[in-house]
Amino acid sequence: MKIDPWSSTTYQDYTRLRDEFGIQEFSENLWKDLPHPHRFLRRGIIFGHRGFDLIREAVIKKKPWAILTGLMPSGKMHLGHKMVIDEVIYYQSIGADIFIAVADIEAFATRGHTIEETKDMALNDYIPNYIALGLKPENCRIYFQSKNQDVKDMGYILGKKVNWSQMVATYGFGGSANMAHVFSPLIQTGDILHVQIEKYGGIRPTLVPVGVDQDPHIRLSRDIAQAHRLYNITLTKDNKIGVFVKTDTNVKKLLDNAEEILVQLNFSQLKRITDYKAIYINDAREGDIPKIDEPLARSEVKLGGYGFIQPSSTYHRFITGLTGEKMSSSKPETAIFLTDSPKETRKKIMNAKTGGAVTLKDQKKSGGKPDECVIYELFLYHLIEDDRELGNIYNSCMGGEQMCGDCKKHAAELMEQLLIALKEKRKKAHEKIEDYLS
Ligand code: TRP
Ligand code: SF4
Repeated sequence: MKIDPWSSTTYQDYTRLRDEFGIQEFSENLWKDLPHPHRFLRRGIIFGHRGFDLIREAVIKKKPWAILTGLMPSGKMHLGHKMVIDEVIYYQSIGADIFIAVADIEAFATRGHTIEETKDMALNDYIPNYIALGLKPENCRIYFQSKNQDVKDMGYILGKKVNWSQMVATYGFGGSANMAHVFSPLIQTGDILHVQIEKYGGIRPTLVPVGVDQDPHIRLSRDIAQAHRLYNITLTKDNKIGVFVKTDTNVKKLLDNAEEILVQLNFSQLKRITDYKAIYINDAREGDIPKIDEPLARSEVKLGGYGFIQPSSTYHRFITGLTGEKMSSSKPETAIFLTDSPKETRKKIMNAKTGGAVTLKDQKKSGGKPDECVIYELFLYHLIEDDRELGNIYNSCMGGEQMCGDCKKHAAELMEQLLIALKEKRKKAHEKIEDYLS
């Protein structure tokens, strides 16, 4: 199996995906003591992660951390896109520095839009919606890939440590792939890692909240981050923690520096073997690795390295399209766009695929299937904040007390309210855009 970020595949079996690609389960202990956990966290909609422990630690200890994500303007913004922004807004409320890329280079390279078209879509639809949804300008920066020289430079420079075989293995590029497309994952790596250079806040844990189709880019960025480190901190075969210098220059200086930092961290049983370019820490355990890694990463910057901390990621399930296939901008009947009128919305919802039984009689007798119902998904993902209220809908559907017609009307009503409120807020959003772009 391969994950293709540019295909229109829908993913069903998230557990299998997780296992096959080494994504970690997003278990309750990762989020339950975060402040007011978002419904996507509480409801298992975010099902997997890489390295979220670092983020949890930063939130709880109130240390700096950043969010970087991106959207490719291609068509109008719909409920699927809203998910990422909802996540970003939640993380902003618990202290993250926010960076959002407008992936105009990627849209140009992979979707056939001109840079000018993507700019229009971003300024007239996507960004006003981010603001209307509640994104605040403080500690928040929205930028266009094509206008950010640092991001483009990073993509190019960091590409030195990836080879063609790796790109083919990750993305399946063949002989006819255009080079702008081939280069776009490196631009995305530039997006993800640039927030850790000094000018953008320096070395710190970074979370990239995305749909699982983006995992190849995450793996690439994590590999590239690691490849640029001067130190490698790992568990050795005999269960010790070793700090290894990866370069052949400045070895002594790097070992001296590491030793000094380890002493400051109160480790005392250090064994330095210069020939192995290594320091073994006999009084450290596996759980200490992040706490050793961070200060060493920071110190690398002074010694001519980048010191990237590997970016963390979370993966959300995709919302199903109204017809049961993927929600997609290119098929308007599958999607609810944030700019849809109440009338359009109602019509789409009334035509949506439900988990109801074939006849009313059957449904009263054996109930509906909320887990296979697009309407229930609308409640779950977007329309109902209160878990108890959601639980009631679930139960009365299962119990055959609730019929799909009424349920759809309820969903349509809530969706209309949401869209009307957004429309109101969008009016004022246009004049605020500048506050986010500097
Ligand atoms: N590739 C993403 C998409 O298809 C957009 C994107 C660009 C992105 N840069 C990013 C996502 C950085 C996460 C992080 O929509
Ligand atoms: Fe879906 Fe509601 Fe019908 Fe249940 S009653 S299947 S939740 S539309």
